[in-house]
Amino acid sequence: MTDRDLLFQREYTFTETAGSTSEELKEAVRAASSPLWRVLSAERQTAGRGREGKTFFSPPGGIYFSATFPMEKTQPLLPCFTLLAGLTVCRALEGISPLAIKWPNDVMLNGKKVCGILAQTVYIGNAPTVILGVGINASLPEADIPPALRDIMTSFTAEGLPAPPVKKTVKDIVSALDREIYLNGALSGDFSPYLKEIAARDHLFGKRVARTLPRGRVTGVAAGLSPTGGLLIRTDAGETEEILFGAVN
Ligand code: BTN
Repeated sequence: MTDRDLLFQREYTFTETAGSTSEELKEAVRAASSPLWRVLSAERQTAGRGREGKTFFSPPGGIYFSATFPMEKTQPLLPCFTLLAGLTVCRALEGISPLAIKWPNDVMLNGKKVCGILAQTVYIGNAPTVILGVGINASLPEADIPPALRDIMTSFTAEGLPAPPVKKTVKDIVSALDREIYLNGALSGDFSPYLKEIAARDHLFGKRVARTLPRGRVTGVAAGLSPTGGLLIRTDAGETEEILFGAVN
């Protein structure tokens, strides 16, 4: 089923099964000769992709969608894009329960991952389009969460909460992002108001974190976010380190 958003002329497609909604939209952008504003949402994915080329577990009961965001800049700031998407997911779903953002791209419910976000860039000539992929564990029953993941992953249903409705959730998130990016200039101006709201939901703040860098392993305590959306670590050596990409553990 396909319909259109009147303000941004976005084309929304809701389907039962996709391989990977992000991979399908990447192909569509590559095949297009002009910018595309498209959304593809599936109830399950057979080849869901996560960060670092990992598989993203996508059984029925999730909300799996991707949206294309043509950008003006040659290199949009992906860390800020991902954080803005995380904030938008929180704002859209916090009527159900408080949520937190785990830098750089997870949304947490009761301390466990409930949503993963992945932003990737595809170019048409010099013009970048960000493909944003969002996977929300909505009505996934607890029994369908692999036992090995139950300590770190959850769903709204597994927490005894109402599951967010698919169509409304996708449209609320994408249209809110359209407003922030294209009307309010969220990614081309001052990001600090958004960082403030993100910091208020910072899952890692004050927790022990570690990250292996080319020059060695950094361990310390998460100390908030930098103005460019990086993670600040107060290291055990007493320094402040900024991590811009990747994850911590
Ligand atoms: C992560 O947590 O590693 C990021 C996961 C991103 C998953 C979403 S689900 C919709 C879209 N299609 C994909 O194949 N991946 C993204």
